Amino acid sequence: MLKNHNNHNQFNIDKFYKNYLKGPRIFSNRDALESSYVPDTLPHRDVQIKNIAEKTACALLGDTPPSFLCYGQTGTGKTATIRYVSQKLAHQSAKIKPWWIYINCNVVSTPYRILAHIYNTISRCEKIPPTGLPKDIIFKKLLGLLDSIVGNSICFLVLDEIDILVNRKGGNEILYNLLRLNENLDKCKTSLIGISNKLKFREYLDPRILSSLGEEHIVFPSYDASELRDILKERSKIAFLDGVLKEDIIPLSAALAAKEHGDARKALQLLRKAGEIAERAQNKFVTSKHLEKAQEDLENDHIKEYIKGMPLQAQLVLTSIYLLSKFSPDHIIISGDIYDVHSEIRALIPGVRQLTKRRISDYINELALAGIISAYIKSMGHYGRTKIIKLDITNELVDKVLCGIEKIQMILNHKPILLQKDKVKLKNNIFKKLI
Ligand SMILES: Nc1ncnc2c1ncn2[C@@H]1O[C@H](COP(=O)(O)OP(=O)(O)OP(=O)(O)O)[C@@H](O)[C@H]1O
Ligand SMILES: [Mg+2]
Repeated sequence: MLKNHNNHNQFNIDKFYKNYLKGPRIFSNRDALESSYVPDTLPHRDVQIKNIAEKTACALLGDTPPSFLCYGQTGTGKTATIRYVSQKLAHQSAKIKPWWIYINCNVVSTPYRILAHIYNTISRCEKIPPTGLPKDIIFKKLLGLLDSIVGNSICFLVLDEIDILVNRKGGNEILYNLLRLNENLDKCKTSLIGISNKLKFREYLDPRILSSLGEEHIVFPSYDASELRDILKERSKIAFLDGVLKEDIIPLSAALAAKEHGDARKALQLLRKAGEIAERAQNKFVTSKHLEKAQEDLENDHIKEYIKGMPLQAQLVLTSIYLLSKFSPDHIIISGDIYDVHSEIRALIPGVRQLTKRRISDYINELALAGIISAYIKSMGHYGRTKIIKLDITNELVDKVLCGIEKIQMILNHKPILLQKDKVKLKNNIFKKLI
């Protein structure tokens, strides 16, 4: 008889699925917590909905709505409100069905691709290639297409995260041209809606564009904790089964998200993550313990993304701090140590420059601002003042992120010379101690 000699424990996936299906249910519609879900009601956005409805209503009569800007911090419901109004407007209009072309400038980011995207969305069959055509030719083709396919109707062009486009080469020019489409159209009318979460973004706009976007902009203020509670209550009725959320979960999630400038996305993510943690643990209820863990997980995700996005030199400054605290947890780290370790490790990576003490100090300040380390100045009496640095996140978390960075991965076991008992560094030369 054949025996299975494989001793290591294997994850039993069939059993896992069976248990999962037998386990307690938490969600009734998990998708209702997704960002893309458009809810039937948007509490605390009446002023903005009314304002946008008033601006766009004339589309129902075949007239041209004004172009306008919406702005407010991240997670304040800008995208959701525009999507909501567009759906309501579509339901009202039996004769004239407005077109809505939604473009996220973070995804479709160059002027060429924006024009191609608008054209390809309307045309459906004939496509503009991803590169190659001169922009004025695409513009001409687009004008013809708008008149022939959109015809007597209105075409709303929604440019979400419009600030990204403005900062691109040729961004102001394409915006200007899109705002003037109507001057060259015979039948169709267009209206441009810009959305941004960069509050200062208007200052960088060409004055001609600013005046075409109208004087009045629609502002989305951040939510406070009680507004977030209302939003979460509505959404959780759809997303969760009755009674699975313990009483304090909604107020707690709302309070946590209110601290982060009233971000509704964050509040919904917290709730979803807490639900998933409870589900994975096969618990019947979502409790504050699950919420705490969800908050921790989300914070870690956020920190991981932040570190991954930092420039290599900043990552190396963090690596220096990490190596010092990994190899000697009790060592008090001062900025001079970081300078030393940075110069050692940067020499292990081809093409990385030595930084000045001043630059290292700037990176230390940035890491402290991001909440990854804490740094405080200590007076050393006659010896002047020095900066003491401490990691504010766990070594495991830093290790996990740095391991994913190709150039840094291989130096994570480098023990800094100042921690090597048998070596000493003098004027940039390393000597072996003889006694
Ligand atoms: N008043 C509200 N009622 C219900 N859900 C809301 C409300 N405001 C925001 N949300 C929800 O919060 C999440 C984030 O909203 P949205 O994507 O509209 O934010 P945003 O202002 O566009 O943010 P960003 O600037 O980051 O793009 C979405 O899931 C949205 O459905
Ligand atoms: Mg948005």
